[in-house]
Amino acid sequence: MESTGTIGRTITRTIFNMSDWSNVRADFPVLHQQVNGKPLVYLDNAATAQKPRRVIDALVRYYEQDNSNVHRGLHALSMRATDGYEGARARVAKFINAADPAEIIFTRGTTESINIVARSWSQAHLKPGDVVLTTEMEHHSNLVPWQQAAKASGATLKYVPVLGDNAEGGLDLAALDTLLTPAVKLFAFTHVSNTLGTVNSVDELCRRARAVGAITVIDAAQSIGHMPLDVRALGCDFLAFSGHKMCGPTGIGVLYGRRELLDKLAPDETGGGMVVQVNYEGATWKPAPERFEAGTPNVADAIALAAACDYLDALGREKIAAHDAELAALAYEKLRALPGIRLLGPTGARSGLVSFAFADVHAHDVVTFADEDGIALRGGHHCNQPLMRKLGLASTTRASFYVYNTPDEIDRLAASLQRILKFFGGA
Ligand code: ALA
Repeated sequence: MESTGTIGRTITRTIFNMSDWSNVRADFPVLHQQVNGKPLVYLDNAATAQKPRRVIDALVRYYEQDNSNVHRGLHALSMRATDGYEGARARVAKFINAADPAEIIFTRGTTESINIVARSWSQAHLKPGDVVLTTEMEHHSNLVPWQQAAKASGATLKYVPVLGDNAEGGLDLAALDTLLTPAVKLFAFTHVSNTLGTVNSVDELCRRARAVGAITVIDAAQSIGHMPLDVRALGCDFLAFSGHKMCGPTGIGVLYGRRELLDKLAPDETGGGMVVQVNYEGATWKPAPERFEAGTPNVADAIALAAACDYLDALGREKIAAHDAELAALAYEKLRALPGIRLLGPTGARSGLVSFAFADVHAHDVVTFADEDGIALRGGHHCNQPLMRKLGLASTTRASFYVYNTPDEIDRLAASLQRILKFFGGA
């Protein structure tokens, strides 16, 4: 654990005083403000997480001291930028226990990561008669790319159903017995549902996919910053995530792919930096990761993403998972008592979010009224339109928690919801 300077001391304090998570709040400048005259309660972490000083400093330091283009420069700044960028790749590899930094491709985010697999892998491997399997609880970013890949190849797209009127039963694992056949060439599923808070048994899903020879793609957008994640223990083939949901910057994400798969894949984009030889007739490609990183990469954000990895590991991802789950359980219990509320997702263990709908108050009204109380929530379909339709809902309100949230903030959420219900005549 690095613990230099003011930031390091702050982190050390939080580690050794885990009973007081409110100390973590000192690390996040944005939290210390009033919204509509009330102290900000930021509960929109599933959409994007706030940034600790350490990550902001890494960005500023890079632009103030090292900014240069990477890889082909022989001057000091270019070498520093290259070391920082490749060091970030190695740091991210360690964060998810990848065997080799070359298995880490920097992208713009989860969406781009999944699209690379859906285009490059699918083009080479899918044909009519094949099946791509995904689930009914996927975010559009792990659903639409597979629809497009199936259309382009003539493969069929199938879905593992969710169970229960409020999807409280999670994925129907029994349905896998009939769905997961040797015709399935690829199985794409989310680790944590951004709408339900369901934590899927990704190790079991990977194991069962392997048994029929299917490639696995995990959407780890909602899990990466919230719990330990080990790609080798899971045995997944591809895994996608975004930096901005794990205290890192926007505009940087990761596609992890097993080396032997990546080296056989055609590039998705072509141009500078990813070629070995170019002549007027054609070109040859570098191996991964360069093969998938055409053009000038996002150096600063990769370096700041590595700083986010350091920050989260200093807090401890097991502890973060326990903290988030504790807050979600507390919120679930408090909200359950509200009249006319419909809570989605598991009734027991869940990730750090709670999604709900009131019979007579639209989610956008809830979010607008909560904002008056200084509380940031999210209302809408959460990029889960098919799931919403299946559950008979147009939208839900979602409160999502992270390292800096506290039980007091859950109390403020519950009080605000009571006020809203009262206003709309529901309590
Ligand atoms: N995927 C993000 C969310 O669930 C934007 O809010």
